[in-house]
Amino acid sequence: MNGTLRDNVILITGSSIGIGRATALRFSEEGSRIVITYHRDEEEAWEAAEECQRRGARGTMVLRLDLRDDVNIRKAVADTVGEMGHIDVLVNNAGVIERKPVEEQTFEDIEQQLRINLEGTIKMTRTCLPHLRKMVINVVSLTAHRGYPDLGVYAASKGGMISFSRTLAEEIGPRKVYNVFPGATATRMTGFHGDPPEKVAESIVLLARGEYLVPNGGDVKIGSPPAMRSGSMVQAEMAR
Ligand SMILES: NC(=O)c1ccc[n+]([C@@H]2O[C@H](COP(=O)([O-])OP(=O)(O)OC[C@H]3O[C@@H](n4cnc5c(N)ncnc54)[C@H](OP(=O)(O)O)[C@@H]3O)[C@@H](O)[C@H]2O)c1
Repeated sequence: MNGTLRDNVILITGSSIGIGRATALRFSEEGSRIVITYHRDEEEAWEAAEECQRRGARGTMVLRLDLRDDVNIRKAVADTVGEMGHIDVLVNNAGVIERKPVEEQTFEDIEQQLRINLEGTIKMTRTCLPHLRKMVINVVSLTAHRGYPDLGVYAASKGGMISFSRTLAEEIGPRKVYNVFPGATATRMTGFHGDPPEKVAESIVLLARGEYLVPNGGDVKIGSPPAMRSGSMVQAEMAR
Protein backbone atom coordinates (compact mmCIF):
# COMPACT_ATOMS: atom_id res chain seq x y z
CA MET A 1 0.00 0.00 0.00
CA ASN A 2 1.63 3.18 -1.11
CA GLY A 3 -0.74 6.02 -1.38
CA THR A 4 -2.27 9.30 -0.77
CA LEU A 5 -3.79 10.38 2.50
CA ARG A 6 -5.94 13.07 0.92
CA ASP A 7 -9.43 13.04 2.46
CA ASN A 8 -8.44 10.16 4.76
CA VAL A 9 -9.96 10.40 8.24
CA ILE A 10 -7.18 10.39 10.84
CA LEU A 11 -8.16 10.06 14.51
CA ILE A 12 -5.26 10.92 16.84
CA THR A 13 -5.70 10.53 20.59
CA GLY A 14 -4.12 13.20 22.78
CA SER A 15 -3.52 15.58 19.89
CA SER A 16 -4.01 18.96 21.57
CA ILE A 17 -0.29 19.11 22.42
CA GLY A 18 3.03 17.33 21.94
CA ILE A 19 3.63 14.50 19.47
CA GLY A 20 -0.11 14.12 18.81
CA ARG A 21 -0.48 17.75 17.81
CA ALA A 22 2.61 17.68 15.56
CA THR A 23 1.18 14.55 13.94
CA ALA A 24 -2.20 16.21 13.36
CA LEU A 25 -0.47 19.18 11.70
CA ARG A 26 1.67 16.94 9.49
CA PHE A 27 -1.33 14.87 8.33
CA SER A 28 -3.07 18.16 7.51
CA GLU A 29 -0.34 18.90 4.96
CA GLU A 30 -1.43 15.67 3.22
CA GLY A 31 -4.97 17.03 2.88
CA SER A 32 -6.39 14.57 5.43
CA ARG A 33 -9.44 15.07 7.62
CA ILE A 34 -8.30 15.32 11.22
CA VAL A 35 -9.98 14.33 14.48
CA ILE A 36 -8.22 15.97 17.40
CA THR A 37 -8.87 14.72 20.92
CA TYR A 38 -8.01 16.49 24.13
CA HIS A 39 -8.36 15.48 27.73
CA ARG A 40 -7.76 18.72 29.66
CA ASP A 41 -6.30 21.10 27.06
CA GLU A 42 -9.44 22.29 25.27
CA GLU A 43 -8.05 25.68 24.24
CA GLU A 44 -4.91 24.09 22.77
CA ALA A 45 -7.10 21.57 20.92
CA TRP A 46 -9.10 24.31 19.17
CA GLU A 47 -5.87 26.17 18.35
CA ALA A 48 -4.46 22.95 16.89
CA ALA A 49 -7.60 22.50 14.76
CA GLU A 50 -7.27 26.04 13.39
CA GLU A 51 -3.62 25.41 12.55
CA CYS A 52 -4.62 22.12 10.85
CA GLN A 53 -7.04 24.06 8.62
CA ARG A 54 -4.30 26.57 7.75
CA ARG A 55 -1.95 23.68 6.80
CA GLY A 56 -4.45 22.13 4.41
CA ALA A 57 -6.69 19.78 6.41
CA ARG A 58 -9.86 18.97 4.46
CA GLY A 59 -11.91 19.03 7.65
CA THR A 60 -11.32 18.96 11.39
CA MET A 61 -13.18 17.83 14.49
CA VAL A 62 -12.33 18.45 18.14
CA LEU A 63 -13.49 15.95 20.76
CA ARG A 64 -12.97 15.52 24.47
CA LEU A 65 -11.64 12.05 25.22
CA ASP A 66 -10.73 10.58 28.57
CA LEU A 67 -9.37 7.09 27.93
CA ARG A 68 -10.31 6.08 31.48
CA ASP A 69 -14.00 6.56 30.69
CA ASP A 70 -15.74 3.79 28.69
CA VAL A 71 -18.78 5.95 27.87
CA ASN A 72 -16.52 8.73 26.64
CA ILE A 73 -14.55 6.33 24.40
CA ARG A 74 -17.74 5.02 22.78
CA LYS A 75 -19.13 8.55 22.35
CA ALA A 76 -15.90 9.91 20.82
CA VAL A 77 -15.83 7.11 18.24
CA ALA A 78 -19.58 7.40 17.53
CA ASP A 79 -19.27 11.17 17.08
CA THR A 80 -16.31 10.70 14.72
CA VAL A 81 -18.15 8.16 12.59
CA GLY A 82 -21.34 10.25 12.72
CA GLU A 83 -19.55 13.23 11.22
CA MET A 84 -16.73 11.68 9.15
CA GLY A 85 -18.41 8.40 8.12
CA HIS A 86 -15.47 6.11 8.96
CA ILE A 87 -11.87 6.13 10.23
CA ASP A 88 -8.91 5.45 7.93
CA VAL A 89 -6.08 5.70 10.46
CA LEU A 90 -6.23 5.53 14.26
CA VAL A 91 -3.12 6.89 16.00
CA ASN A 92 -3.04 5.70 19.62
CA ASN A 93 -0.84 8.48 20.92
CA ALA A 94 -2.26 9.64 24.27
CA GLY A 95 -0.16 8.58 27.21
CA VAL A 96 1.03 9.42 30.71
CA ILE A 97 4.16 8.71 32.71
CA GLU A 98 5.04 8.60 36.43
CA ARG A 99 8.79 8.62 36.93
CA LYS A 100 9.41 6.79 40.20
CA PRO A 101 11.04 3.54 41.29
CA VAL A 102 8.54 0.69 41.42
CA GLU A 103 8.77 0.74 45.20
CA GLU A 104 7.47 4.32 45.26
CA GLN A 105 4.69 3.94 42.69
CA THR A 106 1.31 4.24 44.40
CA PHE A 107 -1.50 1.94 43.31
CA GLU A 108 -3.07 5.02 41.73
CA ASP A 109 0.12 5.75 39.73
CA ILE A 110 0.11 2.16 38.50
CA GLU A 111 -3.58 2.21 37.60
CA GLN A 112 -3.35 5.52 35.72
CA GLN A 113 -0.46 4.42 33.51
CA LEU A 114 -1.95 1.02 32.72
CA ARG A 115 -5.48 2.34 32.22
CA ILE A 116 -4.58 5.23 29.93
CA ASN A 117 -1.62 3.80 28.02
CA LEU A 118 -2.60 0.14 27.68
CA GLU A 119 -6.27 -0.39 28.52
CA GLY A 120 -7.20 2.89 26.81
CA THR A 121 -5.34 1.87 23.65
CA ILE A 122 -7.02 -1.53 23.56
CA LYS A 123 -10.52 -0.16 24.20
CA MET A 124 -10.08 2.66 21.71
CA THR A 125 -8.82 0.25 19.05
CA ARG A 126 -11.59 -2.24 19.74
CA THR A 127 -14.23 0.49 19.45
CA CYS A 128 -12.78 1.89 16.22
CA LEU A 129 -12.27 -1.47 14.46
CA PRO A 130 -15.77 -1.85 12.94
CA HIS A 131 -15.25 1.55 11.28
CA LEU A 132 -11.51 1.31 10.54
CA ARG A 133 -10.39 1.10 6.92
CA LYS A 134 -6.59 1.20 6.83
CA MET A 135 -4.46 0.99 9.96
CA VAL A 136 -3.69 1.52 13.61
CA ILE A 137 -0.45 3.25 14.60
CA ASN A 138 0.60 2.92 18.25
CA VAL A 139 3.02 5.40 19.78
CA VAL A 140 5.05 3.20 22.12
CA SER A 141 8.48 3.64 23.67
CA LEU A 142 12.02 2.25 23.65
CA THR A 143 11.56 1.73 27.40
CA ALA A 144 9.50 -1.36 26.48
CA HIS A 145 12.66 -3.10 25.22
CA ARG A 146 15.24 -2.39 27.91
CA GLY A 147 15.30 -1.36 31.54
CA TYR A 148 15.40 2.31 32.50
CA PRO A 149 15.23 3.19 36.22
CA ASP A 150 11.96 4.81 37.35
CA LEU A 151 10.06 3.75 34.23
CA GLY A 152 9.04 0.18 35.08
CA VAL A 153 5.28 0.70 35.11
CA TYR A 154 5.30 2.99 32.08
CA ALA A 155 7.50 0.45 30.24
CA ALA A 156 5.09 -2.35 31.12
CA SER A 157 2.17 -0.37 29.70
CA LYS A 158 4.09 0.22 26.45
CA GLY A 159 5.25 -3.41 26.27
CA GLY A 160 1.61 -4.46 26.53
CA MET A 161 0.76 -2.25 23.57
CA ILE A 162 3.39 -4.07 21.50
CA SER A 163 2.08 -7.52 22.48
CA PHE A 164 -1.45 -6.39 21.66
CA SER A 165 -0.46 -5.18 18.21
CA ARG A 166 1.37 -8.39 17.30
CA THR A 167 -1.88 -10.34 17.76
CA LEU A 168 -4.05 -7.63 16.23
CA ALA A 169 -1.98 -7.84 13.05
CA GLU A 170 -2.99 -11.50 12.77
CA GLU A 171 -6.66 -10.62 13.09
CA ILE A 172 -7.37 -7.49 11.08
CA GLY A 173 -5.66 -8.04 7.73
CA PRO A 174 -5.55 -6.65 5.13
CA ARG A 175 -5.70 -3.71 7.51
CA LYS A 176 -2.42 -2.96 9.31
CA VAL A 177 -1.11 -2.17 12.75
CA TYR A 178 2.32 -0.68 13.49
CA ASN A 179 4.30 0.47 16.51
CA VAL A 180 6.31 3.68 16.43
CA PHE A 181 9.21 4.11 18.89
CA PRO A 182 10.18 7.74 19.54
CA GLY A 183 13.40 8.57 21.36
CA ALA A 184 13.40 11.43 23.87
CA THR A 185 11.12 14.03 22.34
CA ALA A 186 10.70 17.65 23.42
CA THR A 187 7.18 17.69 24.88
CA ARG A 188 5.58 18.32 28.25
CA MET A 189 6.30 14.67 29.12
CA THR A 190 10.09 15.26 29.06
CA GLY A 191 10.13 18.87 30.28
CA PHE A 192 10.67 19.77 26.60
CA HIS A 193 14.03 17.97 26.31
CA GLY A 194 14.85 15.95 23.21
CA ASP A 195 14.21 15.92 19.50
CA PRO A 196 11.39 17.98 18.00
CA PRO A 197 8.01 16.19 17.94
CA GLU A 198 7.85 16.92 14.19
CA LYS A 199 10.46 14.16 13.71
CA VAL A 200 8.04 11.57 15.11
CA ALA A 201 5.15 13.09 13.15
CA GLU A 202 7.08 12.77 9.87
CA SER A 203 7.70 9.05 10.42
CA ILE A 204 4.07 8.42 11.36
CA VAL A 205 2.89 10.08 8.15
CA LEU A 206 5.41 8.18 5.99
CA LEU A 207 4.24 4.96 7.62
CA ALA A 208 0.61 5.82 6.94
CA ARG A 209 1.49 6.67 3.34
CA GLY A 210 2.93 3.16 2.96
CA GLU A 211 6.46 4.42 2.30
CA TYR A 212 8.25 2.08 4.74
CA LEU A 213 8.99 -1.59 4.17
CA VAL A 214 7.64 -2.91 7.45
CA PRO A 215 5.59 -6.06 8.08
CA ASN A 216 2.11 -5.95 9.55
CA GLY A 217 2.45 -5.75 13.35
CA GLY A 218 5.99 -4.41 12.94
CA ASP A 219 8.03 -1.61 14.45
CA VAL A 220 9.38 1.73 13.29
CA LYS A 221 12.19 3.19 15.37
CA ILE A 222 12.37 6.95 14.98
CA GLY A 223 15.90 7.97 14.06
CA SER A 224 16.69 4.67 12.31
CA PRO A 225 13.59 4.01 10.22
CA PRO A 226 13.11 0.89 8.08
CA ALA A 227 13.99 0.74 4.41
CA MET A 228 11.75 2.65 2.05
CA ARG A 229 9.75 0.91 -0.65
CA SER A 230 11.40 1.14 -4.06
CA GLY A 231 9.56 3.73 -6.07
CA SER A 232 8.31 5.36 -2.92
CA MET A 233 7.16 8.94 -3.19
CA VAL A 234 9.85 9.99 -0.73
CA GLN A 235 12.64 8.44 -2.79
CA ALA A 236 11.21 10.09 -5.86
CA GLU A 237 11.10 13.43 -4.06
CA MET A 238 14.71 13.04 -2.84
CA ALA A 239 15.92 12.20 -6.33
CA ARG A 240 14.47 15.37 -7.78
N1 LIG B 1 8.08 12.65 24.72
C1 LIG B 1 8.84 11.55 24.63
O1 LIG B 1 10.08 11.58 24.81
C2 LIG B 1 8.21 10.23 24.29
C3 LIG B 1 9.08 9.14 24.00
C4 LIG B 1 8.50 7.92 23.68
C5 LIG B 1 7.12 7.79 23.63
N2 LIG B 1 6.32 8.85 23.94
C6 LIG B 1 4.88 8.65 23.88
O2 LIG B 1 4.32 9.58 22.97
C7 LIG B 1 2.96 9.82 23.30
C8 LIG B 1 2.69 11.33 23.31
O3 LIG B 1 3.45 11.87 24.37
P1 LIG B 1 3.97 13.37 24.40
O4 LIG B 1 5.41 13.30 24.63
O5 LIG B 1 3.44 14.13 23.25
O6 LIG B 1 3.31 13.83 25.78
P2 LIG B 1 2.33 15.04 26.16
O7 LIG B 1 2.75 16.27 25.48
O8 LIG B 1 2.26 15.01 27.64
O9 LIG B 1 0.93 14.57 25.54
C9 LIG B 1 0.20 13.51 26.11
C10 LIG B 1 -1.20 13.55 25.55
O10 LIG B 1 -1.98 12.50 26.16
C11 LIG B 1 -3.21 13.07 26.61
N3 LIG B 1 -3.80 12.37 27.75
C12 LIG B 1 -3.34 12.30 29.01
N4 LIG B 1 -4.21 11.65 29.80
C13 LIG B 1 -5.25 11.29 29.00
C14 LIG B 1 -6.48 10.60 29.22
N5 LIG B 1 -6.84 10.15 30.44
N6 LIG B 1 -7.30 10.39 28.17
C15 LIG B 1 -6.97 10.85 26.93
N7 LIG B 1 -5.86 11.55 26.67
C16 LIG B 1 -4.99 11.76 27.69
C17 LIG B 1 -2.83 14.47 27.00
O11 LIG B 1 -3.99 15.27 27.11
P3 LIG B 1 -4.15 16.34 28.33
O12 LIG B 1 -2.90 17.12 28.37
O13 LIG B 1 -5.33 17.13 27.92
O14 LIG B 1 -4.34 15.52 29.56
C18 LIG B 1 -1.92 14.86 25.85
O15 LIG B 1 -2.68 15.26 24.73
C19 LIG B 1 2.73 9.13 24.64
O16 LIG B 1 2.07 7.90 24.44
C20 LIG B 1 4.13 8.89 25.16
O17 LIG B 1 4.17 7.79 26.03
C21 LIG B 1 6.82 10.06 24.24
